[in-house]
Amino acid sequence: MSDTVLLERRDRVALLTLNRPEALNALNTELLTTLSAHVAELAEDQEIGCIVITGSQKAFAAGADIKEMRDKGYIEMLMSDFFGRYGAISACRTPILAAVSGYALGGGCELAMMCDAIYASDTAKFGQPEIRLGVIPGMGGSQRLTRAVGKAKAMDMILTGRMMDAEEAERCELVARIFPADTLLDEVMKIAETIAGYSRPSVFAAKEAVNRSFEVSLSEGLHYEHRVFYPLFATEDQKEGMTAFVEKRKPDFRHR
Ligand code: HXC
Repeated sequence: MSDTVLLERRDRVALLTLNRPEALNALNTELLTTLSAHVAELAEDQEIGCIVITGSQKAFAAGADIKEMRDKGYIEMLMSDFFGRYGAISACRTPILAAVSGYALGGGCELAMMCDAIYASDTAKFGQPEIRLGVIPGMGGSQRLTRAVGKAKAMDMILTGRMMDAEEAERCELVARIFPADTLLDEVMKIAETIAGYSRPSVFAAKEAVNRSFEVSLSEGLHYEHRVFYPLFATEDQKEGMTAFVEKRKPDFRHR
């Protein structure tokens, strides 16, 4: 596979590092195809319990590759199924965390938002600057940013193209937590290891249930939660988790 995305396995966590430093990790076809292929493969890998996507200190990703897009026409964009490439990320049942340092702009911000949680360094800068290029967000920005930060902030970001720093992003709930730039990746890897240590059926169920809340009404969502809660009592890991608590020991989950 192309070296535009590097894959490293650390025990039960897979680390994917975007690797086009000369273009601030701009998302070109080669990088996106490689990223999707890695995620699709990792999603099938029973040994991997959590995936982390990161970039460099300077940029998580500065957006879709403008040089690659510049000369494309409508039919070419339509026929190339530009957006189909992201299916693997949103379809992945294994949790995916984004560790963002530096710029996360346009498609870079959208890629981070496709992940299950964003952890930012204090140097992170988020933005949807597509309006400056004569287009709009096209990888989910108008929808996911609005759901994350609300209409006023999303309109402000998308209509002006301004950037938001890490503190503002945490304040408006785009990011889960902020860490100093030099410890960000270690901290996110620790979070990923924690998640990867839990029982996989409960991790899948938790991710599904939270994601469901974005699609349905509260009563439908509560109903869905109950439907995925009860079957967990058919797992050995529910017995193990609760028995370990009662016996004051660490659980040894079988289906990690
Ligand atoms: C292609 C890019 C790029 C991009 C940076 N580079 N962003 N190449 N596509 N999105 C390249 C630059 O051309 C340059 O290479 C090198 O990376 C370093 O960038 P500089 O601009 O010299 O760095 P700096 O001055 O530090 O400025 C950093 C920056 C700026 C503020 C992040 O690069 C910038 O504004 N980038 C574009 C951000 C953007 O508009 N993103 C949205 C893209 S549209 P050379 O070789 O030229 O020196 C999008 C649509 C998504 O994402 C929808 C899906 C279809």
